Amino acid sequence: MAEISEPKKRKIEQIAERVLKEIRPSEDEIAVVNRVSNEIMGRLKKAVPKNVDIILAGSVARGTQIRGNSDIDIFLLFPKSQDERSMERKGLEIAKKIIDSKNGERFLIKYAEHPYLQIMLKDPPIKADIVPAFRISDSSEMGSAVDRTQLHNKFVMAHLNKTQKDNVRLLKAFMEYHNVYGAEAEVEGFSGYLCELLIHVYGSFASILHDFSTLRLPIWIDAKTKERGNDGDAFKRFNSNFIVIDPTDPDRNVAAGVSEESLARFVLAARRFIQAPSLKLFYSVEYSDANSSGKISKIAKGLGADIFLICFKIPEISEDIIWQQLKKLNKKVSETLEKNSFKPIIAAMSVEKDEALLAFFVNKCKLHSTTREGPDAFIRDASEAFMKKHKTVYVKGRRLVSIERPKYADAEQLIRSEMRDTASKFPSYLKKGSAKLIINSIPEEYAKLLYRSYMEQTNL
Ligand code: CTP
Ligand code: MG
Repeated sequence: MAEISEPKKRKIEQIAERVLKEIRPSEDEIAVVNRVSNEIMGRLKKAVPKNVDIILAGSVARGTQIRGNSDIDIFLLFPKSQDERSMERKGLEIAKKIIDSKNGERFLIKYAEHPYLQIMLKDPPIKADIVPAFRISDSSEMGSAVDRTQLHNKFVMAHLNKTQKDNVRLLKAFMEYHNVYGAEAEVEGFSGYLCELLIHVYGSFASILHDFSTLRLPIWIDAKTKERGNDGDAFKRFNSNFIVIDPTDPDRNVAAGVSEESLARFVLAARRFIQAPSLKLFYSVEYSDANSSGKISKIAKGLGADIFLICFKIPEISEDIIWQQLKKLNKKVSETLEKNSFKPIIAAMSVEKDEALLAFFVNKCKLHSTTREGPDAFIRDASEAFMKKHKTVYVKGRRLVSIERPKYADAEQLIRSEMRDTASKFPSYLKKGSAKLIINSIPEEYAKLLYRSYMEQTNL
């Protein structure tokens, strides 16, 4: 593929410089984070047994974090001789011990593959994750998935220089603006480590965008050797057509969490930006969510659609699980609507505090009864079978005709029946009757969330 032209390269460099001024953490921010992480690591040092190491990990340790996003990841590395449960338990115990509640520090127990502690400091308001893991030097020794992080840390520190780290920041920011940054279920996008690896392989933000603007699937990328290809057995082995092999673990596809949708959105954004690089295209389109209720009604009206909003209270479980369930539910209800001739034009989703929202824009329509021509009444077997199969049948001339009533006259009936159906597709906690259906007049607080979801999807 042709290289980027020199003028274009220079233009991107200018844009990058401007953006970096905004997204590189300020010296103040870095000083504060250093102070806080040293403080917490100092406290931990006093609390851990001799055979446990303490390391700073994640983007703060690697110098690839974006301004205002300096959350601290600290890992407690236990010897492999310990069993997993006791490692977990001790890790949490130690982390709890160092919390200074008199100074307003609070904590939460969070769950990844195993539990870890998140400390929320009051002043400065920084979060620090304290994650117990096993100390390993190679992925073959891995005891739990979080053990990899220490290897990622080493790899990134050894292979990315300062300029490349700034390029990681640019890539993360660009992806963030285009809603494809983050491995969590809400986004199903690119993780921080994946961004770091892509910069390592392609060299710079500009070459990634240039290359991805003409990306064809399938593709595998070996982050260790920097080789790429579109053949071989990797696609079968990883059951994916977008593969970035972890340089610290040949059995891991770092891009496993990237949905095709997020990849497609990134490719579209890269294509537009590379065609004519500009600051405006870096940031994606801005929009205001003021008076979203009016805006969303106008959209529905323009489409000739009704809006069906299902909202439900959610329990205190991880947001990742809620998002997974919400997406599954969206898929299932969409399919049922489609099967009954109410195919949604677009769906919107949102999770906010203790509520989840799922909305469908469906063409305004009522289904009518139809008739179906059957066999000749004088052909015995065929007409008997037809009469058995159809509820209401009459004779017209010598042919049988059946009357077919739609199962649901409109989408509302169908959605209500889905919501009532105990054996339905709704997760168990929704069956307790917390779900409610709002049609068309969407209150502003919900409308804002729906409007954002709509804009994020259609702002390509
Ligand atoms: N990690 C991972 N896979 C994930 C999430 C996290 O391997 N799906 C590991 C990575 O090594 C990562 C570290 O855990 O660097 C910390 O995770 P996180 O804070 O989510 O990512 P960062 O790399 O710190 O990026 P960000 O700047 O967004 O915080
Ligand atoms: Mg982080």
